[in-house]
Amino acid sequence: RQQQLGTIFSSCPLVPVITIQDPDTAVELGRALVAGGLRILEITLRTEHGLGAITALREALPDVWVGAGTITTVDQYQAAVKAGAQFAITPGSTQALLQYGTTATAPLLPGVATLSEILQAYELGYRDFKLFPAEVAGGTAALKSFAGPLPDIRFCPTGGIKPETAADYLALDNVIAVGGTWLTPQDAVSARDWTRISQIAEDSLRRCRGAG
Ligand code: 3PG
Repeated sequence: RQQQLGTIFSSCPLVPVITIQDPDTAVELGRALVAGGLRILEITLRTEHGLGAITALREALPDVWVGAGTITTVDQYQAAVKAGAQFAITPGSTQALLQYGTTATAPLLPGVATLSEILQAYELGYRDFKLFPAEVAGGTAALKSFAGPLPDIRFCPTGGIKPETAADYLALDNVIAVGGTWLTPQDAVSARDWTRISQIAEDSLRRCRGAG
């Protein structure tokens, strides 16, 4: 399970956090991000279109990883797996979600902000985490501190990360990828400006690789 997460999050250093407002845009948006070089798509369940978008993207883009984000209950987790999600991301951790994640077919990247939360999940075997909200929870300084007591854990930080700061996170040994909404500006999505979406992905990747 942890190995599976490692495989997914090492396939691309940037994870777009996508909230679908118009279901008709989901596949085109996914294609534009993939054209820009991205390989992982996190579709949040913040709108009623999330689950349908996951199913549509799995079908249309079989070569990329499609997962569900903003999962806050086991029911949502189950629904996401049924819709075809290949991974599940939560903004925080509950015992119920963590327990379910140890058996679900789609591995869980649990959201954490403190070392105590990390330790509760660590006891259950979790080694990969989403640091959220990354900037508020201490940013790169917190991540460096976590590496002291727990050198074998890795993070995908999200929350407040910008194209200018993504590379600072990725430069840390315990960061495998970073996520955010900056990759899918709502005005570009509403205007169906797929060229701009691809360009943002491409530029962001170049920036991160240049720094790494
Ligand atoms: C998430 O769920 O990961 C965040 O909403 C991403 O937040 P951002 O808008 O600060 O990138």
